[in-house]
Amino acid sequence: MAKISIIGSGNVGATCANAIAHMRFASEIVLLDIKEGISEGKAIDMMQTAKMYNFDSSIRGVTNDYSATAGSDVVIVTSGIPRKPGMSREELVGVNAGIVHDVVSSALEHSPDTIFIIITNPMDTMAYLTYKVAGLPKNRVIGMGGQLDSSRFNYYLSQALNCAPSDVEGIVLGGHGDTTMIPLIDKATYKCQPVSSLLSKEVADKVVADTMTGGATLTKLIGTSAWYAPGAATAVMVKSIILDEKKVFPCSVYLDGEYGHEDVCIGVPVILGKNGCEKIIEMDLNENEKELFAKSVTAVKNVNKILNEDKVIKD
Ligand code: APR
Repeated sequence: MAKISIIGSGNVGATCANAIAHMRFASEIVLLDIKEGISEGKAIDMMQTAKMYNFDSSIRGVTNDYSATAGSDVVIVTSGIPRKPGMSREELVGVNAGIVHDVVSSALEHSPDTIFIIITNPMDTMAYLTYKVAGLPKNRVIGMGGQLDSSRFNYYLSQALNCAPSDVEGIVLGGHGDTTMIPLIDKATYKCQPVSSLLSKEVADKVVADTMTGGATLTKLIGTSAWYAPGAATAVMVKSIILDEKKVFPCSVYLDGEYGHEDVCIGVPVILGKNGCEKIIEMDLNENEKELFAKSVTAVKNVNKILNEDKVIKD
């Protein structure tokens, strides 16, 4: 049975652990945090719901003890600071790069065969950093952002169409940033009908804009970044890996030529199975989408440059 470790037991990490326990595919979930006691406390709190929710996963919390994460099938990285109202995800790079560098190195020592899922923002840059630091094959480093952004896209589409979110199908590619993500509105459908035939251009443009600022809207409302949808988005990705479901998710993965780009981690549709990212699906993008994707790559690469400037990774 599967062992999942989650580094960072804050809002996103703990919610993710809870979602995984409720999905019942993991035998062992380890929560690790640098802050004394937080993981232990949250793990016990969740375990005290096991009988009520009828799950059998063992959830254990530890303070910075990586030996407890040994032999993890998947390591989820959420450690770092979240944004505050008015901040962009990219502004977090300086602090979070050091944290992600250290936790990835420590986790890898105890779980050399693991698959990493990176959530810490700016996520595409943190996934790139992980790929460079860990030296793993590209299928084993996966950034979570596109699945969350796509869920937000589907939510806003369903609001505009006054329908159930499960009846719409929309996907967001590109970077996981307010200005870099690309909700593919021309490809979105409601029960096989293109939404472009159901929504005015004005409403469709608003859906796209609301999706792009979806995280910032919640940060403004809550005072810190969101956690329910990020936790759930990660849990379904991990489930597809552990149960080898081979479902398609938009994920940030290392490109070396796909979509005409290289040396960048950015959101594209991938198949997730027991080997992690088993295949990158090359969608047929129209000229406008290709142009937006190229701009998104450039923007993400510009943030990645900070890693070299700060000497977090070497050229
Ligand atoms: N090792 C382990 N845990 C750490 C470390 C470290 N070196 N540094 C920080 N942490 C922990 C903090 O102690 C905190 O408990 O990471 C946790 C982060 O939790 P929150 O502050 O609640 O942040 P959260 O909302 O969960 O977001 C985490 O995910 O969505 C992104 O932008 C978000 O980068 C942020 C990350």
